[in-house]
Amino acid sequence: MRRSVTLLEVLLVLASFDEALWVIGDSSHCKQNSREIRPHSVTITEFGAVGDGITLNTKAFQNAIFYLQSFADKGGAQLFVPAGRWLTGSFDLISHLTLFLDKDAVIIGSTDSSDWPIVDPLPSYGRGRELPGGRHRSLIYGRNLTDVIITGDNGTVDGQGNVWWNWFRSETLNYTRPHLIELMNSTEVVISNLTFLNSPFWTIHPVYCSQVIVQNVTILAPLDSPNTDGIDPDSSDDVCIEDCYISTGDDLISIKSGWDEYGISYARPSSNIIIHRLAGETSSSGIAIGSEMSGGISEVSAEDLQFFNSNIGIRIKTTPGRGGYVRNIYISNVTMTDVKIAIRFTGQYGEHPDESYDPSALPIIDKITIKDVTGENIRQAGLLEGIEGDNFLNICLSNINFNVTSKSPWNCSYIMGYSNLVFPETCDPLREGIFPEHSSACYHLSNHLQRPSGQNRFTWLVPR
Ligand SMILES: *[C@@H]1O[C@H](CO)[C@@H](O)[C@H](O)[C@H]1NC(C)=O
Ligand SMILES: *[C@@H]1O[C@H](CO)[C@@H](O)[C@H](O)[C@H]1NC(C)=O
Ligand SMILES: *[C@@H]1O[C@H](CO)[C@@H](O)[C@H](O)[C@H]1NC(C)=O
Ligand SMILES: *[C@@H]1O[C@H](CO)[C@@H](O)[C@H](O)[C@H]1NC(C)=O
Ligand SMILES: *[C@@H]1O[C@H](CO)[C@@H](O)[C@H](O)[C@H]1NC(C)=O
Ligand SMILES: *[C@@H]1O[C@H](CO)[C@@H](O)[C@H](O)[C@H]1NC(C)=O
Ligand SMILES: *[C@@H]1O[C@H](CO)[C@@H](O)[C@H](O)[C@H]1NC(C)=O
Ligand SMILES: *[C@@H]1O[C@H](CO)[C@@H](O)[C@H](O)[C@H]1NC(C)=O
Ligand SMILES: *[C@@H]1O[C@H](CO)[C@@H](O)[C@H](O)[C@H]1NC(C)=O
Repeated sequence: MRRSVTLLEVLLVLASFDEALWVIGDSSHCKQNSREIRPHSVTITEFGAVGDGITLNTKAFQNAIFYLQSFADKGGAQLFVPAGRWLTGSFDLISHLTLFLDKDAVIIGSTDSSDWPIVDPLPSYGRGRELPGGRHRSLIYGRNLTDVIITGDNGTVDGQGNVWWNWFRSETLNYTRPHLIELMNSTEVVISNLTFLNSPFWTIHPVYCSQVIVQNVTILAPLDSPNTDGIDPDSSDDVCIEDCYISTGDDLISIKSGWDEYGISYARPSSNIIIHRLAGETSSSGIAIGSEMSGGISEVSAEDLQFFNSNIGIRIKTTPGRGGYVRNIYISNVTMTDVKIAIRFTGQYGEHPDESYDPSALPIIDKITIKDVTGENIRQAGLLEGIEGDNFLNICLSNINFNVTSKSPWNCSYIMGYSNLVFPETCDPLREGIFPEHSSACYHLSNHLQRPSGQNRFTWLVPR
């Protein structure tokens, strides 16, 4: 919902707060550079594809996209996928392309692992995330691209992940499992108006990307499917995720930036990540940061979130050896229902790529603001564990109300910060009030968080 704020409204809102909090002026939207409709369009059937769910169409996708390359400098082109069940192996996108999946169009991932070729590990991970060496390439893949749109009329991409989850469980994988979509080193990416089912591994993985919009997508995988994260922005900036429903076996959204010594030396942070109107359930966390955060993660704003039937609501994961930082994080207006642990920080997550990590590379966790959160049927309000000798700093909790079942709702160690209006009463390290003397220690986005387009700015109105 887009609305502009009049001066009168601002004054009314300000007047209604006793302890002047901050007010968001322009309820924001992922801003897309206005793009003309692609002047050229082809249909996948023109390249011999058969939508019977049996015929393997990898060649048809590759040939269609190869053909469309000649339109890149003529405004780009669209590849239209009509209703049908289009079985395929991994294929590669190009710049200035729109992949459009019509209503009832389903792209289905092959269950033969050799249709998912092996690519190099990411330099910021040093190896595959699950196994040393390379990794299977995602079903829909793109590298070094600009201006790519993956959209439709709620068409579907189904990874048929069940075979991969079984290989994972029986330990018969030879390489790390593939994502459903991975875009690497790309800019101006839009993924919208689609449904993604049963990814073998993390579902949507933008890595080393800028200006990424994910809007109005549904992502589904069974709650017991392994590592089926929804959306994982990784070493990427100017990412906007909006109006998504996600129900998966792992984190709904997990923001990352590389793993231990590889992430530290690659040094590509994730920053300016904006999340609005996310709802869903998971056997892991609603919104997570880490545990791979070695390139640094900052300027994250997540608002209007609804998590239900989940293990954890809000999570930060890290461990000695990661290095990097997580700072300037703002999470607000969260509703949780039937969540075991509402807020969890883990400072000893473990999991290292190899033995060469530097245990003295300690992560910096600083300025994390969580405000306006309610929870019904929460077991524990907060399990907040920092790192001994490396306290997590300026953790600020404001206006939080949980209906908890545990007798010790908060359990905090090696963290420092401030709070106000938190029920049940928070732990000692956070008991000092925010207002007025500590408000500047709490991150509240008075600075300029840029929109994905890089053109506009949020208008945050900060009283006092
Ligand atoms: C990223 O893409 C740009 C433009 O396509 C290219 O010049 C650059 O070398 C790429 N970098 C990496 C690390 O892939
Ligand atoms: C992307 O850019 C990198 C660095 O220039 C290059 O090594 C790689 O081959 C490119 N990949 C593709 C698919 O263009
Ligand atoms: C979301 O997608 C559906 C179908 O894909 C479409 O009908 C609807 O208008 C979209 N909503 C927004 C806000 O884009
Ligand atoms: C799109 O399809 C999915 C799966 O069928 C459905 O759950 C979702 O509600 C649909 N979204 C819209 C906006 O119609
Ligand atoms: C792993 O490699 C073995 C031997 O080449 C092969 O038989 C098996 O199918 C491979 N597994 C997967 C999941 O690709
Ligand atoms: C999603 O679909 C709706 C309805 O067709 C359309 O208005 C909107 O522009 C689409 N969004 C994107 C980002 O493509
Ligand atoms: C909080 O988020 C919910 C959706 O989860 C939304 O309906 C509501 O308008 C938001 N409240 C404010 C004050 O923005
Ligand atoms: C907590 O939840 C229980 C069960 O839903 C309800 O009876 C009770 O009124 C709630 N308490 C508060 C303080 O909301
Ligand atoms: C707090 O959490 C730690 C680590 O999970 C646990 O060992 C300890 O027993 C907990 N303390 C209380 C009072 O629940």
